[in-house]
This record gives sequence, C-alpha cells and structure tokens, in this order.
Amino acid sequence: TRPLKVALLGCGVVGSEVARIMRTHADDLAARVGAPLELAGVAVRRPGRVRAGIDPELVTTDAAGLAQRPDIDVAVEVIGGIEPARGLITSAFEAGASVVTANKALLAEDGSTLHETAEKHGVDLFYEAAVAAAIPLVRPLRESLAGDTVNRVLGIVNGTTNFILDRMDASGAGYGEALDEATALGYAEADPTADVEGFDAAAKAAILAGIAFHTRVRLDDVYREGLAEVTAADIASAKRMGCTVKLLAICERTSDGRSVTARVHPAMIPLGHPLASVREAYNAVFVESDAAGQLMFYGRGAGGSPTASAVLGDLVAACRNKLSGARGAGESAYAQLPVSPMGEVVTRY
Ligand code: HSE
Repeated sequence: TRPLKVALLGCGVVGSEVARIMRTHADDLAARVGAPLELAGVAVRRPGRVRAGIDPELVTTDAAGLAQRPDIDVAVEVIGGIEPARGLITSAFEAGASVVTANKALLAEDGSTLHETAEKHGVDLFYEAAVAAAIPLVRPLRESLAGDTVNRVLGIVNGTTNFILDRMDASGAGYGEALDEATALGYAEADPTADVEGFDAAAKAAILAGIAFHTRVRLDDVYREGLAEVTAADIASAKRMGCTVKLLAICERTSDGRSVTARVHPAMIPLGHPLASVREAYNAVFVESDAAGQLMFYGRGAGGSPTASAVLGDLVAACRNKLSGARGAGESAYAQLPVSPMGEVVTRY
C-alpha cells in the first residue's frame, strides 16, 4: 500500500510532539490506518532551532508551498491564530488534502467557511484537539450523541486559568507567579492574554455550543469575562463559604428550546461539586442531554502530549478515510438557532 503523506504546519510544543509520536509509533499507526504514514514536510517559522528527530531536509519556512503540494494526503495545522493558518488550511483543501487542526480561535471565528470549503473539495476537517486537547468531546458530541438532544454543556475548558486559580487557592501563590509556571509547563497560549481574558475558553465554548446544539456559534456570540477581576481575597472568601472559584464555560439551550446561550466567566462552585475537584491544568466538561442524562468528560486539556494525542486520533481517522475514499462524520444539518447574548444568568449546578 502506498504511504500516506502528512504535512506538518507548525512545529512548536504540539507539532514536535506529533512528529515524535509519528516516529516512535510508526508501526502501530501504520497498522491502525492500513498504510504507513510518511512525514512529507514540516513548516516552521524559525529554521535555525534544533528539532530533535526531524530530518532537516523536511523542514521548510515555505508553509504556503507545503500546503499547496498536491501529493499531501493530510495537512496537520498546529500554528494557531487566524492567519496564516486560515490561508494554509484553505490551500490544503484546494490541493485535495484533508486537514487536522487544533486551532480553536480559527474554528470559532470562521468554522462554517472552513467546513464548506472542505465539503466542496470532498475532504475532511477534523478538530478534536481544538477543544480540551486529549479529552474526547468533539466526536462524542457530534457522533455518539447525534441521536440525542443536548440541553447543556458546562465545563472547565482552559487549563492555564484553572492552574492559576488552583495555585492561588491551594498554596496562596500570586497570580503572576502562577501564570509564569503555567507558561513554563507549556499550557498557556503563545499570547497568554488569550487564556486569562477568557478568549481561549470562549472559542472552545463557541465550538462546543455549535456541535452540541447543531447551530452556528461564533466567538463574538459568547459573553466573556476573564480572570482580571478575581483577587486573592475573592478566592479566600469563596473558601470561607465552602466554595472554590473556577472559570466556567456554560452553553445552554434556553428554556423554550428556541435559542442558545454561551458564556464564559468566573463562578463560585460548591466544594462538593465534581467540578470543584478539577485541579491543576485538568479540564472537565459536563453534558446534559434528554436521553443520556448527565455525562462527564475529564482529563488533560492542555500541553503538548495531550494535544498531540487528539491530533493523532484525528490523523488516523483522516488517513483511513483517504484510503477508503470515505468522508468523516460531516457536519450535521444546522438548525440556525439564534444565539441570545446572555440568557439565564442563574446557573443551576
Ligand atoms: N492554552 C490552552 C489552555 C491550551 O490553557 O487550556 C489548550 O487549548
């Protein structure tokens, strides 16, 4: 069987881990896909950095040229941000490649255009890594619960802010010190204001709400408050009340079922609630649906390896489809429910 050619667009914390696992688990991946996976090119911004284990001949600064190559089967975009990622993904689709991306900001801004372009070119767009990294959420919501009616998605979806709040609560660490530690551990975004101001969680809320409620929700539709207003005194007084402070993403169908709301803000959680015990950079997401009832997804939602795990799962799925000529679980028909700006302010836990 011919090898499937994979282009890696970006080689930072996540990209280098994807390349490493492709190398160390090549035989397993080949067995699961039914053909070997060949790393055909790696686009980077700074060529000089040493990239352990990657053939220097594969490394290029010409990301546009790599994305346009017609021999590429699957392009993996782990650059992040809107441009050049959007242009590169579009080029890859036009050249006939499926795309696996971890790019929540882009999906929350322009997911519908990307889906339409993938559809037009008969290729796949997979993005499990965009929401809570290793935790399977996109596929369960899109596929496993496709026959159910989801009413609410509630979760801790940003590892950096959970890490900061946890450190401030547990050890009385200062905000700046905790953020530096989260950055050093590889949890924070390249620009950590995306984490602490809630943009990262809001992008994930938009993606989750879109899939859960079969509608389109964009970042601008999500009410957002970050950690700016949370002080050590707030955390201490929450503790005295038997609570802890978490940055929550809350996506709900309104009670009449005719519209949806999505919001991100700090919230006090009673210590007895399972979300209160989500420590460090872990993420957790509750899903409530008509038939399944309550589901909880928990795991590592940030960092190189957990994100690479989700990327590789999608890569296997995209490669299998390339071999069989199938297309992945496409987007469901969209109901286009209106998104109301804030919805019910009181959340029942
Ligand atoms: N910066 C993100 C976080 C990484 O802290 O959760 C995963 O999207």
